Amino acid sequence: MMKAGKLLLRLALALLASNASARALSGKPRDFIVHEERALQDIVTWDEHSLFVHGKRVNFWGGEFHPFRLPVPSLWLDIFQKIRAMGYNGVSFYSAWVLHEPKPGHFSAKGLFDWEPYFEAAKQAGVYLVARPGPYINAEVHGGGFPGWLQRISGNLRTPDADYQAASKNYIESITSILAKAQITNGGPIILFQPENEYSAGLNNVTFPDADYMNGLMKQFRDLGIVVPFINNVAWPSGVNAPGTDAPVDIYGHDSYPFGMDCSDPKHWIDDALPTNWRETHLEQSPNTPYMIVEYQGGAFQPWGGDGFEKCAEFTNYEFERVFYKNNIAAGATINNFYMTFGGTNWGNLGHADGYTSYDYGAAITEERQVYREKYSEAKLIANFIAASGDALASATPGYNTTGEYADNDAVTVTPLIGDKTKFFVARQTKYNSLDSVSYKLTLPTSAGNLTIPQLGGTLSLHGRDSKIHVADYPVGDYNLLYSSAEIFTWKKHGSRTTLVVYGGPNEQHELAVSKTSGATSVEGYGIKSSKRNGNTIINWQSNPQRRVVRIGSGLYVVVLDRNSAYDYWTVSTEEGATSHELTPSSELIVKAGYLLRTASISGGKIHLIGDINATTTVEVVAGAHEKVSGLTFNDEDLKATFDRNGFLKATVGFSAPEITLPNLDSLAWRSVDALPELQPDYDDSAWPDADHTETNNTYWPLTTPTVLWGAEYGFHAGSLITRGHFVATGNESVIHLNVSGGSAFAFSAWINSTFIGSWDGSGEVKIANLTLDVPKLSQGSNYVLTVLTDHMGHNGNWFVGYNEMKTPRGIIGYAFPGHTPPSANGTSRAPDGIKWKITGNLGGEDFHSGPRGSLNEGALWVERNGFHLPSAPTSSWKENEGPTSALGKPGVTFYTTSFDLDIPESWDVPLSFVFNGDAFTGEGKGWRAQLWVNGYQFGKFANGIGPQRRFPVPEGILNYRGKNTLGVSVWALEEGGAKPEGFELVKAYKTPY
Ligand code: GAL
Repeated sequence: MMKAGKLLLRLALALLASNASARALSGKPRDFIVHEERALQDIVTWDEHSLFVHGKRVNFWGGEFHPFRLPVPSLWLDIFQKIRAMGYNGVSFYSAWVLHEPKPGHFSAKGLFDWEPYFEAAKQAGVYLVARPGPYINAEVHGGGFPGWLQRISGNLRTPDADYQAASKNYIESITSILAKAQITNGGPIILFQPENEYSAGLNNVTFPDADYMNGLMKQFRDLGIVVPFINNVAWPSGVNAPGTDAPVDIYGHDSYPFGMDCSDPKHWIDDALPTNWRETHLEQSPNTPYMIVEYQGGAFQPWGGDGFEKCAEFTNYEFERVFYKNNIAAGATINNFYMTFGGTNWGNLGHADGYTSYDYGAAITEERQVYREKYSEAKLIANFIAASGDALASATPGYNTTGEYADNDAVTVTPLIGDKTKFFVARQTKYNSLDSVSYKLTLPTSAGNLTIPQLGGTLSLHGRDSKIHVADYPVGDYNLLYSSAEIFTWKKHGSRTTLVVYGGPNEQHELAVSKTSGATSVEGYGIKSSKRNGNTIINWQSNPQRRVVRIGSGLYVVVLDRNSAYDYWTVSTEEGATSHELTPSSELIVKAGYLLRTASISGGKIHLIGDINATTTVEVVAGAHEKVSGLTFNDEDLKATFDRNGFLKATVGFSAPEITLPNLDSLAWRSVDALPELQPDYDDSAWPDADHTETNNTYWPLTTPTVLWGAEYGFHAGSLITRGHFVATGNESVIHLNVSGGSAFAFSAWINSTFIGSWDGSGEVKIANLTLDVPKLSQGSNYVLTVLTDHMGHNGNWFVGYNEMKTPRGIIGYAFPGHTPPSANGTSRAPDGIKWKITGNLGGEDFHSGPRGSLNEGALWVERNGFHLPSAPTSSWKENEGPTSALGKPGVTFYTTSFDLDIPESWDVPLSFVFNGDAFTGEGKGWRAQLWVNGYQFGKFANGIGPQRRFPVPEGILNYRGKNTLGVSVWALEEGGAKPEGFELVKAYKTPY
């Protein structure tokens, strides 16, 4: 029997397999292997409409969240719960190779970098995971996820080149053994797996797409035990690696950021940004797999000197979600993932060079884990609709975009999605970015014939930048919603009662009808018209902030809301950890609550809710409190709960904010130390590595100096670099030309002995700076040392295959010292010139010593190399002063440290941030920059004049909220005359939930 069962299973899978694969089956053996691979498991399957998990259709609606951008594992559940509370059922994540294998062959995934707590938290919250381990990930991460030491191989990255293959092997093997165990087939949360990332374009005559490369990579993952379906994410619908190609993934998908990343004019929606041909391209490229958008714009990343994330949040706000997310639904996408849904922080130098410390992304959940942005609430409305619409939506077939067919006004475009019984009509403005309101009537094909609605008077309206999903013959438990112009938030069925929650925009006319019911009775509020036609009950109303409840027939309660009121409603499962295939309409409650509702359970005749509030809040269970329930608790506190006559269970949760006092940083006892003792005459750098390589494997970058002077060559990859050139003066030196690479917004300063000779102050746009610096009079025959401190902003990503941009070095990439070294006969400066170079970055380089904080947390500063930024540094002999706002009289780096206690009451979530005050951000560096360490964790890199970030959030868990904290700040004065930072503060988030 067992054997037969398996055979039957294979047959079933064969029936689900795509035509393209079926075609391939008869022809190419390679595709046969892929097909066989699909049969490796029977838990995650798919057809042309959607995924199935354990045989149940799943419309995957996910958010991107990277644990490494929130280095407090105990907070991961918080994010998962906040994503789940939006009605999402999935999360997609990257793993960053650079964080796991700082030294070739030495993989580690411990402490902050351990994946177990992440998987546990995902399971506890009940979300599916999509694993995206790269090896290349992009992600605005250092090197696009690539460890810096890949600069030391000569091969093309992301190709079959032998040295790249050898370099990536250990990471692939090690991370896969972790991910494989967490697949759903082993009881874990991972249901899909993405090898590579946006494998989309090649340059410089590399083979692209390279089937050997992708097939090889997929084979590696398969051989190591990955059995769930492979997906891909091309950057635009190009068909690369789709079924039927030479290296097909199982489920082909693409990414889309229709608005791009320029948030400078957030209210301006350019013409034609809305994709309208995706259904057609999908039918051409991969008609037999579900339509999958692996990354859809959830915000935007920002460059140094950019506009800041609040503008990106506004650019990709609730209106953007309404129009664009619903457009994905119109295209038939049933696997959607929003990048980012929680962005987090590029702490500890983990970001790429083109971004700054915050990775807030303008996402639905803020960097401080808050959910006050309206886009969070709007996304919750959409996702709940997807979840409530179950198989009906997940299996519907999209039709063409129409004008004049369903809506009587050509200004409204309607895209139908037609199911066996149920039909969806996605309406938007034909000029998608119009700000005008338009009126229309809809003619819908229903089981009661074609009906033009509203039937009871008035017209429908679509305001500017809105989109709605109307439905016909939509199942609501045992009822048939014949049609609804109002949008559906959700519906649930508990025993004999069914509850439907609908909403409309401000002052809109709406109408819905329920088949074969005995009429409507208003049970709360007024102003609802009703009528019975042909045995169907119709209700019609104008949206307003007042809630109305209408009972239709004996057991359907329709809760009529306006959109702003609907934002306060939540659906919440009463079964911890239930994922969407396990949920039923009766295993979830519908609850009106306040700021956030996380979980619910029922025991002892009571409903127990867990959530967050920011004001005195009325909590009301509108569905699910009818059967054997008589009480309510909120965060374990018993509430005085009463049933109203509709059976809604209601209580008030009191709120009074505690007084929270924060230390005034100016009045703390600070101590400081010169962080550049290298400028002292007696400084001994003999223990530093010699920068003496005369050749490099980094053939991406032409070597123009006698020896390699960039960091990665010697194992230094983050924070900053110090390079020292020892020479005997000729006495003829008058200038030195220095060409230095640090990445966007970097700075460098140079000294000869302790004499400052100049700095590059930085600019948001400049990644490499070439300066000619005057050299003081040097005495012939004397020894001198040139010291160059370079900011290292992270390595570049490596988006184009064949371009190897990640290999762009950091450090000195060229110099000429005319009076010292005459130009060599052959015209290059590579001839030995007698200068002996030393280089350092973080202590130990790839053999880093900062322990739990990973390999990127420290740079080259003497305080960092000595661990003086960590708690308990021996500072008693250091100078007492006023901290980072003390004036620095000359160029150089001073490190300040202090400690303070916090006493934030338990069970309060109080986001805290450190703020640097300084010059206005013009995009050009001005005089100084700073780094911030909190209990040893680098949580901020501030560039005065460039910005845009001044406020650096630090989560609880990095900050000790009830006890001692150690703070470290380095201030680097770049200019003659020194610097005086204007202010440094610790503040509560400017928009707090209390
Ligand atoms: C995509 C990429 C992601 C991320 C995103 C922009 O191209 O796959 O990793 O970089 O763009 O934030």
